[in-house]
Amino acid sequence: MTIKSISANETFTVRQPVLRPDRPIEDCCFELDNHASSLHLGMEFNGEIIAVLSALPIKCENFPNLKSMRLRGIATLHAFQKKGLGSQLMIEVEKRLLKLKKIKLLWLNARISAKPFYQNLGYETMGETFNIQGVGDHQFMYKKLLE
Ligand SMILES: CC(C)(COP(=O)(O)OP(=O)(O)OC[C@H]1O[C@@H](n2cnc3c(N)ncnc32)[C@H](O)[C@@H]1OP(=O)(O)O)[C@@H](O)C(=O)NCCC(=O)NCCS
Repeated sequence: MTIKSISANETFTVRQPVLRPDRPIEDCCFELDNHASSLHLGMEFNGEIIAVLSALPIKCENFPNLKSMRLRGIATLHAFQKKGLGSQLMIEVEKRLLKLKKIKLLWLNARISAKPFYQNLGYETMGETFNIQGVGDHQFMYKKLLE
């Protein structure tokens, strides 16, 4: 298994079945996916991408003075979940963004089902849960990155 930087399009083979199972591949594209500052990481196994995540250059309204990025599209193919791959990708993206881009804060809108996953990685919640139509309840979460 290796972690590598991939293009936004290369994330779609994981985003689609895991995050958008009943929707067309066009719905897998996020705003700023192709921005020069965006970073997409993939876990490769036998030549296939099996887990992905993306960091997008979107400031955090709750922490406007910290250099921040938004995490989106965090997904592991069903057959490979609960083996530690998602956590490895999260740790790697934190390391790269802190070192290469001096990012001080990562934030995301977590699906409620994934909240314990992020809490295990040191992410904190803030505010009430809210509903995203067609996807379900979410919670704002963040982590300050320390040198
Ligand atoms: C959330 C998600 C990305 C986590 O990816 P993953 O590769 O399964 O992540 P990990 O294996 O590192 O951790 C997941 C859980 O497995 C457990 N785990 C890790 N290694 C394990 C192992 N060897 N054996 C059993 N369990 C293990 C972790 O403790 C963790 O528990 P938690 O759910 O209580 O946090 C994945 O479940 C997923 O794609 N879910 C559907 C899409 C989704 O909800 N994405 C998040 C949107 S905000």
